[in-house]
Formats: sequence, structure tokens, C-alpha cells
Amino acid sequence: MSTVGKVIKCKAAVIWEHKKPFRIVEVEVAPPKANEVRIKILASGICRSDDHVLSGALQKTLPVILGHEAAGVVESIGEGVTSVKPGDKVIPLFLAQCGVCSCCLHPKGNMCKNNSFDKATGLMADGTSRFSYQGKPIYHFVNTSTFTEYTVVPEYSVAKIDPAAPPEKVCLIGCGFSTGYGAAINSAKVEPGSSCAIFGLGGVGLSVIMGCKAAGASRIIGVDINKDKFPKARELGATDCINPLDFKKPINEVLFDMTDGEGVDYSFEVIGRTDTMAAALASCQMNFGTSVFVGVPPTASQLTISSDLFFSGRTCKGSVFGGWKSKESVPRLVSDFMAGKFNLDPLITHTLPFDKINEGFELLHSGKSIRTVLIF
Ligand SMILES: NC(=O)c1ccc[n+]([C@@H]2O[C@H](COP(=O)([O-])OP(=O)(O)OC[C@H]3O[C@@H](n4cnc5c(N)ncnc54)[C@H](O)[C@@H]3O)[C@@H](O)[C@H]2O)c1
Ligand SMILES: [Zn+2]
Ligand SMILES: [Zn+2]
Repeated sequence: MSTVGKVIKCKAAVIWEHKKPFRIVEVEVAPPKANEVRIKILASGICRSDDHVLSGALQKTLPVILGHEAAGVVESIGEGVTSVKPGDKVIPLFLAQCGVCSCCLHPKGNMCKNNSFDKATGLMADGTSRFSYQGKPIYHFVNTSTFTEYTVVPEYSVAKIDPAAPPEKVCLIGCGFSTGYGAAINSAKVEPGSSCAIFGLGGVGLSVIMGCKAAGASRIIGVDINKDKFPKARELGATDCINPLDFKKPINEVLFDMTDGEGVDYSFEVIGRTDTMAAALASCQMNFGTSVFVGVPPTASQLTISSDLFFSGRTCKGSVFGGWKSKESVPRLVSDFMAGKFNLDPLITHTLPFDKINEGFELLHSGKSIRTVLIF
């Protein structure tokens, strides 16, 4: 029986309180309104950004359905939707590309003005939610909300992909892989022969390593306080791995020592802490070094950096979704994956059924996983 135009009752993992486990409940998912798309989720990865909301570091309105790294199939479309149709395989986009705002029209950058990051409310454009539980609204997360069997997203937050793409792998193109890989090749524009330091070797940091390697960097130094992350980092291209806890000196000084007193050409913060952002900036070459901040720090946190670090010429920049203009780039990244241009398997350490979502977050907390992919 067709579900088009009807409310769908399905399972969703909801958080009602910070630092409490997800509770899987039956929610109601309303049909898509104009310019919206309802998607059946097939696979969703767990990213640290979801955990930042769970911990309360990233402030969003609760109760909320998290999840933003997924692949699925379009179930139905609202009036006016033209870029996808029912049955299309898709990836939801946590960073929109509306195609008409000043940012989308500008050749540089990718931060569409229809992003939902500054809206803590988690509501759709008309000010309402498509999710409800026992008659009360459940909020959306960054235009995606993928820890649910069905979700509704704006048309500018979904990209059609190759129907043959394996959802349990290409879901990582929805966040972790693209964010890290693009930070190296689009945001930093790493050059052949350059030296790079990556602070944080989770799914995103390892994808930065893949990007640095693809760009031809000759020295790739992984930095993490969990040495268990080092073998995978080396497998993906790190030439050295260091643990700041093994040194008495500040880690930026260690990195200078390792690079003949020069510092690295490019450094990346892929953790989400202000102290490691400052250390990453201090680690790069004093004159032309560039530091790219990828990690999401706690809401409203302030960064204290010596202005001397900039006086000598260093550059510091942020990077969201790897600098990719999402709706046009995600289908291309999926095609590149299908053509064998990169491998996502090393990033996927665990695969679990959706109802084991709390186990997936425990693996993240204990540092045992890179990416856990939940299968629906
Ligand atoms: N900018 C974006 O578009 C974007 C997209 C996705 C994720 N993120 C952010 O990127 C960051 C990384 O995401 P992830 O999913 O790879 O996270 P993760 O938790 O899997 O990886 C973080 C790594 O940092 C290490 N770490 C923690 N504290 C450290 C310290 N003090 N010094 C050195 N290493 C330390 C951990 O051991 C871990 O290996 C998060 O902050 C996430 O929110 C940003
Ligand atoms: Zn993410
Ligand atoms: Zn836009």
C-alpha cells in the first residue's frame, strides 16, 4: 500500500536529555510539504558531531533526531520538487546547496545561506517539524536527521547518486570522508612534496590523511592521544604518528623539531577543541604555513591565540564539509568512489543494526571505532 501523502509511523532514535542513551520509539513522520523530500534511510554513519549534541557541547533544541551521514531512497516528494523523484538513491546533505543564494552563486566557498547551523531550533523552513511523538514535536538536526527509518529534508539538502552505489559505504560521503578529504584538497590545497600534520585521527582526520596523500604530500604526521589510532593512520598514508602525552614539550615544538625547525606547511585540527586549534596553528610554518580548522568546538567557545603567530604570515581558516558545494559535488564523489578512486573500507570499523545505536556510540566513546555504520 502506498505511503505517499500519508503520515508514516516508524522507528527513530530520539534524545530527550543530554548524556542519556538514545531511546528508540515509534514516531510519526508527516508527508513532505512543498520543496521537501521524504527519504527512507538505508544506512547512517555515526560522526562525532552527533555526539557533540548528545554531550551538550553543541547546543540544539531537544528532543531531537540526530544523524547526518546517510544514504537512502526517496519515498515521496512535495510539490515543486524537480531534482529527485521517488525511488532515487540519495545522500542527505547536512550543508545545503540552494544554488541561488550569494554564497552558492559565488565560485569560492560552500557555506550556503540556507544552512541550518545557526538555527538551534531544528524546524523546517515553515517553522514546523515533520516529526512527532505522542502529539508533540521532535526536532530536526542540520536539515538531515538520519537516525530514523524515514526523514524529511528540504530539496536543497539532498543529492541524487548512482543507484548502484552501496549505501552502507557511500553514506560516509555524506560527512566524514568528504569533510576530511576536501579539507586537504579544497580548503588547504595541499601541494606535492609538502608537509602536513593532522590533529585527531578519527574518521574525519583519517580522511584528511587520504586527501594529503592524494595531493602528493611527502610528510604526513598524525597526532592523537590514542595510539590505537596509529596503525590505521599509517595504512592510509601517515609517515609518522605522535602522541602528545609522550612528550614534555608542547606538541607544536615537537613538530618543529621533526621538520628541521621549519614547522609543517599545512596543519589540520580535526578534534573540536580550542587548545588543539591553537597548537595546530602554532605548528605550521611561520611565514606561509596554513592551519585548517575542521573540528567543531563547543557552542560559543572562544579561542585565545598569540597575535605573534599571525604577524609572521601564517594563515588560519575554517572548513565545513571539506569546502565542497554539496549538491553538485556529492554525486561526483560517489562516481569517483564507484570508479575506485578512493576506498572507504578502512574507515568503517563496525556495522550494526540500527537498534544497536547506543552500542555504536559506546564504541565511539571508548575510542574503539573509526566509523560505525548503522544498517536499517
Ligand atoms: N567541519 C565540518 O564540516 C565537520 C564535519 C564532520 C565532523 N566535524 C568535526 O570534526 C571532529 C572530528 O570528527 P570525528 O568524527 O573524526 O571524531 P572522532 O572522535 O572519531 O576523532 C577525534 C580524534 O581526536 C582524538 N583526540 C581527542 N582529544 C585529543 C587531544 N587533546 N589531542 C589529540 N587528539 C585528540 C581522539 O582520540 C580521536 O581519535 C569533531 O569535532 C567533529 O564534530 C566537522
Ligand atoms: Zn559529521
Ligand atoms: Zn545557497
